Amino acid sequence: MKVPFGTMSITQEARGLINKILAGGNVSQGKYVRKFEEEFAKLIGTKEAVAVSSGTDADTLALAVLYDFGAKRGDEVITTAISFVATGNAILHAGFRPVFVDVELETLNINPDKIEEAISDKTRAIMPVHLMGKPANMDKIMAIAKKHKLFVVEDAAEAHGTMYRGKNVGAIGDMAAFSLYVAHMISTIEGGIVTTNNPGYAEVLRSLRSHGRSCNCKTCIMNTGAITCSKRFKGGKDRRFIFERVGYSSKMNELEAAIGVANIKMWPKYLRQRRENLLYLLKHFKKFQPYLFTISEEKGEFIGPHAFPVIIGSKAKFSRDEFVGYLSKNGIDSRSMFLSMPTQCPGFGFLGYKLGQFPVAEYIGDNGLHIGLHQDLRIKHMNFFISVTERFLKKN
Ligand SMILES: Cc1ncc(COP(=O)(O)O)c(C=O)c1O
Repeated sequence: MKVPFGTMSITQEARGLINKILAGGNVSQGKYVRKFEEEFAKLIGTKEAVAVSSGTDADTLALAVLYDFGAKRGDEVITTAISFVATGNAILHAGFRPVFVDVELETLNINPDKIEEAISDKTRAIMPVHLMGKPANMDKIMAIAKKHKLFVVEDAAEAHGTMYRGKNVGAIGDMAAFSLYVAHMISTIEGGIVTTNNPGYAEVLRSLRSHGRSCNCKTCIMNTGAITCSKRFKGGKDRRFIFERVGYSSKMNELEAAIGVANIKMWPKYLRQRRENLLYLLKHFKKFQPYLFTISEEKGEFIGPHAFPVIIGSKAKFSRDEFVGYLSKNGIDSRSMFLSMPTQCPGFGFLGYKLGQFPVAEYIGDNGLHIGLHQDLRIKHMNFFISVTERFLKKN
């Protein structure tokens, strides 16, 4: 049996829409992008959603919005030490300095009790990540942000469908960034989207994704609307060529949006299958402690599963690579868990952090892995993973 890490979902409906769009000729950002944004906002329960070209850009542009609301270049953004490297990259791309905080071993997420000691005069925002779909402790994070007057930008790249105390993640902070990369539950192949309840932030986001244009209303940013908009030449200047802020080139195209529109319809089914796989593994994985352990779903949490994390316990006599090698030999695909960004990712070396400063993150970086539990896998695949793991533990 093979247990692939990822899958790709392009439905028949999406294929039909793609052909229609190609025949019509309007392929750059237009009505399908708008439709996708409206449907995504409805799904998360926010007033607005702004589509961009990647999850990394969703993180970056959401942070760049803060310059319109009092932040200065070089200010600090607090984030978790463990995430896909895009989180740290995005903070730097947006012109901020990332300040990392160690994680909790049980949740893999930012340790909220360590956030306050990382706050300085330059801190403007907290960027929690809901790793693997497990929600970060948003009650504590929102309370700290309120106390210190900080923005909260959620990195919800891996958390489509995740809920925290009855609220969707993505609708809790000031803004949230989702990835729509092919491995994620709702995908446009490549893409990202920012959700927010603040129309002012959404307006700046629409400008930022389109080079910082001043013309950022919902009509003009569309290739079809630019010619007809009544405001375009107001004041004797072509607003399409006035760039009010340092912008990005980060639009989603119509073909990607069509895949997203069709994908959203499938999403309840995908979520159901992923949840079934996750809950089954959570139940059957407990017996492998203390050699292997994973996260759990606590009261008030609803995990929108991204992948299944496994951490090698300190009592184990084998290494992660030996376990990964055994899984691979048996047809089970896995990925190493992400590294401690500040101390295990060479690209962040210039920030001056030293190995040993993030002991929990570094432990996870050395001992963590994740396997797929996507919508094309069934309980039989989960059972296979469990039996291969049992066999490995017996030998080791
Ligand atoms: C936590 C996290 N943040 C950001 C991203 C970046 O998303 P993308 O690959 O769409 O740029 C990812 C990618 O999977 C991610 O896992």
